[in-house]
Amino acid sequence: MCGIFGYTGQRTAAPILLEGLRTLEYRGYDSAGIFVPGHTPIKAVGPIDNLANKITGPISGTTGIAHTRWATHGSPTEANAHPHLDMSGTIAVAHNGIIENFRELKDGLVTQGIEFTSETDSEVLAKLIGTQYRGDLLKAVQAALSLVRGTYGIIVTSNHHPNEIVTARLGSPIVIGVAKDGNLISSDSSALLSYTKDVVYLEDGECAVVSKEAYEVFNLRGDKLSRKTEKIEIEASAVQKKGYEHFMLKEIMEIPEVIRDTVRGRLLADKGQVKLGGIESVMQDLLKKDRLVIVGCGSAYFAGQVGQLMLEEYAGVPVDVELGSEYRYKRNLADKNTAVLAVSQSGETADTLASVRAGKEKGLMTLGIVNAVGSTIARETDAGVYNHAGPEIAVASTKAFISQLVVLTLLTVALGREKEMTAEAGQKILRGLIELPDIIKEYLTDTSDIKKIAKKYAEYQNCMFIGRKYHAPIASEASLKLKEVTYTHSDAYAAGELKHGSIAMLDKNFPVIAIAPEDDVYEKMVSNIEEVKARQAPVLAITTAGETHLDTLVDNVLYVPKVHSVLQPIVSVIPFQLLSYYIGVEKGLNVDRPRNLAKSVTVE
Ligand code: M6R
Repeated sequence: MCGIFGYTGQRTAAPILLEGLRTLEYRGYDSAGIFVPGHTPIKAVGPIDNLANKITGPISGTTGIAHTRWATHGSPTEANAHPHLDMSGTIAVAHNGIIENFRELKDGLVTQGIEFTSETDSEVLAKLIGTQYRGDLLKAVQAALSLVRGTYGIIVTSNHHPNEIVTARLGSPIVIGVAKDGNLISSDSSALLSYTKDVVYLEDGECAVVSKEAYEVFNLRGDKLSRKTEKIEIEASAVQKKGYEHFMLKEIMEIPEVIRDTVRGRLLADKGQVKLGGIESVMQDLLKKDRLVIVGCGSAYFAGQVGQLMLEEYAGVPVDVELGSEYRYKRNLADKNTAVLAVSQSGETADTLASVRAGKEKGLMTLGIVNAVGSTIARETDAGVYNHAGPEIAVASTKAFISQLVVLTLLTVALGREKEMTAEAGQKILRGLIELPDIIKEYLTDTSDIKKIAKKYAEYQNCMFIGRKYHAPIASEASLKLKEVTYTHSDAYAAGELKHGSIAMLDKNFPVIAIAPEDDVYEKMVSNIEEVKARQAPVLAITTAGETHLDTLVDNVLYVPKVHSVLQPIVSVIPFQLLSYYIGVEKGLNVDRPRNLAKSVTVE
């Protein structure tokens, strides 16, 4: 949520800043701006292209900072775009996070006669740093930060220090890239990949001075810390479209490879066992816990709901699933015999992170299923499993969601085999997992049916998804995908719930999408579909290949390959990802960057 990018080195900064912003655009695209010392900031509302179009001539200078915004305080206007200047117009700040006490700070600054040009909380930071500046930029930043409450990842530069960037973090990610011809600062390591793989992740409460040749890390008291670089493992090509029109489609097409990468080196298929190196050290303690609480937001939450059903059915582990934004309010949080499992693609989602921290404060074991290596949740949890799905750039989660389901399946087998799962049951699941990439690859070779149905469904204003058991959360995920990518109003229900109220909504203009694979709840799903048909609602059913009845009952049917029931949601969700994608394209929408959203939600 908001992307910040800085460069100081031997090359001209402006083009590097623009390039960095393009890679970070998925973090927010309400407005963007850059500042190069000695020049006035250049800002534009909307995507980075609007900013690029405003830069008509070369901008000299080899140091600069940049920002792409997801609006929190103040509407997406040019005045509210970052970087913001202090009152002398010489110090510039780009900020990701929220300054909670900005009103009282602003009031204090206004009474000193300081004028503001934006409605943002971030401008308060810029002005505050200005009031603290006595010739040392780091000290001014430290002094200003000691006065603020809230979260921040900031980069600061100044006309007085044209070869220096000061950065600091509390709650919002900052990573420093150490390259041959200079140093970079970013909210996300993926934006550094074209320049370097050597990075330093700042921890909360740390700040750093970055110059062309060096970086120095300090705590907020000013003590110097020794921080070595780490290597990023991903390739630069992973954040490119590779010939696809959109990242979303590319990422769906990558699903077979993602599943291979997620399970690589982790399967002992013949024994029906799984090796999850990241949680080995805590496994014995974990087995002693009475229950697991899975926390997540959005798609990660729905993955957690599928995980709950798997873990309970196959591993006999009692599981609760909580929204990251709500978990901290639970009374029973303090039950020591609970382990908290955070599911997060970015590893930076503020609400999920807050749940991890709330659990830690109560002394609970915390675990993570995280895709972004080195992210805050990955580092703050006691142990965890990486998804290895590679960077996911489209705002709507597709391949990462699938990899979350795959990791949850692995965890189910790992825990199940220690508890009540037989070797044979473990073998069946793992063999199914091994076959899955080829099955899905074959399935993805022809998506024309889904494309055709997308044209029809692009006309509807509303839609209702229904499913049971594993496919009730998949209905929720499908509905979320449709909303975020196509702006169609939609809802999801566990199919049995429909008759308790929501069925009142249905008529011939209100379609229902029913997920009805031939599994142990198939017959009940068919009854629910009958109820819907009786209300004249158009029905699209998704079922498994070989099913023969539904096409006599509903308006359209899409078939997916039939796999092991615990793996079926992994396959069944794919047509919905594609359906949303094709409807979004049909409507001419920006499917990779839907309105009002950001990929990584780092505010609570
Ligand atoms: O990075 P996380 O997995 O923690 O993100 C959680 C949600 O913000 C995310 O899944 C969101 O709902 C996606 N836009 C869904 O497509």
